[in-house]
Amino acid sequence: MFLAVCVCGIVGMQAQKNESFRPGQVWNDTEGNPINAHGGGLLYHQGTYYWYGEYKVGETVLPADATWERYRTDVTGISCYSSKDLLNWRFEGVVLKAVPDDPGSDLHPSQVVERPKVIYNEETGKFVMWMHTDSPDYGKAEAGVAIADSPTGEFKYLGGFRPNGTMSRDQALFVDDDGTAYQFSSSEDNQTMHINRLTDDYTKPDGTYVRRFVDMSREAPAVFKHGGKYYMLSSGCTGWSPNEAELAVADSIMGEWTVIGNPCTGPDSEKTFCGQSTFVIPVQGKKNAYIACFDMWNKTDLQNSKYIWLPILIDEHTGKLSIPWLAEWDMSVFDNK
Ligand code: GAL
Repeated sequence: MFLAVCVCGIVGMQAQKNESFRPGQVWNDTEGNPINAHGGGLLYHQGTYYWYGEYKVGETVLPADATWERYRTDVTGISCYSSKDLLNWRFEGVVLKAVPDDPGSDLHPSQVVERPKVIYNEETGKFVMWMHTDSPDYGKAEAGVAIADSPTGEFKYLGGFRPNGTMSRDQALFVDDDGTAYQFSSSEDNQTMHINRLTDDYTKPDGTYVRRFVDMSREAPAVFKHGGKYYMLSSGCTGWSPNEAELAVADSIMGEWTVIGNPCTGPDSEKTFCGQSTFVIPVQGKKNAYIACFDMWNKTDLQNSKYIWLPILIDEHTGKLSIPWLAEWDMSVFDNK
């Protein structure tokens, strides 16, 4: 009897399809395991979405020498999930693995590897991953780059560096319509955002960069383009603890950026519904449909941090973008505006 109940439970879990987004709730993959892809980024490639994130496994610790709340888990690698509908995700494995046998590697378990983002280079046919690589005390402040021939890896680590010789922590990638790619990075001790233009193969900065959001302490950038304008969603700078989100807009990506303000509305909107931005996905096949992805960090148990995905709604009269709290929603929100 007990066995029958267990087996039914497992089969039931596997068969269960996600029909709606439920922000902040446990979100299981197609095998019934909680999705483990934190600080993540998405890529749409040939009809499939790929979600890459920090694969956080094991105990969360606060290092004995920590002077601030730098709770951590050992580096175990970058995970990848695939989906056709953004709701049901299949685990594709750990596509960039930690390197436990080389203490000098950026990917050694003792180090910091966060906020992976992957873009596809049409010219080289390579999938290029950028991530924040750091020393355990976050003093190194570098960007690491890895490449692969397939979206599901395995990715080969090329190395880490300070883009244009400057610090780089939280980061995002953006590919413009002309194929030029940019890295946005929290630089200068997280005080100022740098927008670094990348080489044609996307693996390095090309030497041209601008300083924006000077002394504004923005982190967790997520960049997207809508109606010919560039938008950056970001958080303030309070470690794993939530703060108020901010949306900014620019006519040209390396031009002047104007702060619009907090796009979140509803309960806890002044602290981003207890989340922190990580990515904005343009929904394929729908016009003016974007999903804002946030991490809901559980700082003392990081592997059990959850996700908050919400639609970005665009007012049809004013063009204003907002991110309302919705406890449960599906893609039809984009049809009912
Ligand atoms: C946050 C950052 C996270 C992580 C954390 C460490 O501000 O967005 O990616 O670095 O600090 O405390």
